[in-house]
Amino acid sequence: MDVKSIRSNFKVLSQKLNGKQIIYFDNACQTLRPRQVIEAVDQYYLEYPACAGRSSHKLGVKVTDKVHEARQKIAKFIGAKRPEEVVFTRNTTEGMNLVVHALDWQEGDEVIITDKEHNSNLIPWQILAKEKGVRFRISPSKKDNSFDVEAFKALLNEKTKLVSMVVTSNLDGVTNPIKEIIKLAHENKSLVLLDGAQAVPHMRVDVGDLDVDFLAFSGHKMLGPSGTGVLYGKYKLLERIKPFMVGGDTVERSSYEDFVLLPPPEKFEAGLQDYAGIIGLGAAVDYLNQIGFDDIKKQELKLNQMVSDELLRMERVHVIGPTEAEKRGGIFSFYVDGVDVHQLALMLDETENIMIRSGQHCVHSWFKAHNLDGSARLSFYFYNTQDEAAVFIDVFKKLIKVL
Ligand code: ALA
Repeated sequence: MDVKSIRSNFKVLSQKLNGKQIIYFDNACQTLRPRQVIEAVDQYYLEYPACAGRSSHKLGVKVTDKVHEARQKIAKFIGAKRPEEVVFTRNTTEGMNLVVHALDWQEGDEVIITDKEHNSNLIPWQILAKEKGVRFRISPSKKDNSFDVEAFKALLNEKTKLVSMVVTSNLDGVTNPIKEIIKLAHENKSLVLLDGAQAVPHMRVDVGDLDVDFLAFSGHKMLGPSGTGVLYGKYKLLERIKPFMVGGDTVERSSYEDFVLLPPPEKFEAGLQDYAGIIGLGAAVDYLNQIGFDDIKKQELKLNQMVSDELLRMERVHVIGPTEAEKRGGIFSFYVDGVDVHQLALMLDETENIMIRSGQHCVHSWFKAHNLDGSARLSFYFYNTQDEAAVFIDVFKKLIKVL
């Protein structure tokens, strides 16, 4: 992989702030976008800024075709059987909420989540527990924050309607053994919903091979435009479940008395959609396909290894998750005894434009349970370089002496 030439597609990387280039290590929040994605978005607005699926004029037909093309690309990218299994959303959170609202819950039904879920896979269950008496059970991680299969097995029972969990944690970068989890869940006749926000951009997630029922992920964490996302669902399930938002373009016909819904995916895509975003997401998939996950993973790990090796030698530095970098993919989430993580993040930004995220990363529950205020999190992507990691290590060593 030629990182230098790849970086030339990301204009923001050559931009100078206060006379210095930026070092962007906040890719778990949003990645940067290559020229190809921005051009695809621009092209929509400049050449065919019309509605899809409704208008029969030339521009309308072009948008409809382009949206369908993007849906096909995404379906292939995740190994879906057909494009109709791809529902466009605004983000992972929306996809997760869609499934929560779409399933038919009875009092006493159970859901299994883990102790490291993002708020979008915790709060909806807390609400459902209060409103409908659905019980969510929390599968505890091992001491090093990796997945505990035995603890999970102990929670599965005949009431478990759904297993809903993260593939790769945004807290520490640990990837759960999802294939095994799905197999166990299916043997128990439970459905599986995966939060793929931090996985789909970094590794091949093949829904066919996994046999997963639902998978939610975001476009903006994989080079796509902001506020784009996907919910994959097995077609038969999508046919069966109800949409939680209805209106424009979700119905085949309606009268004053009744309505008939369109088949999936349209029945879930209410109102005018972000066509530019969807088309841009298709371009992002093309770009990722060109690079390939082998090289993406290699580069992320190289950088994580470099930073982990240097920082974990220091007595005051503690990593969240396993100490081995290879178990944390592209994420290095840490805290330093006696140091405020927000102050650290601000100073990295101030001194060398090093952009990281500090805080609880929407996993407040885990931090509360572990009596920690938060962490500083570096999240790498394939366009980050060893030089950038070296600058971070150097600046961090200087800052730590004064903080
Ligand atoms: N959940 C995203 C993150 O971890 C926003 O940064």
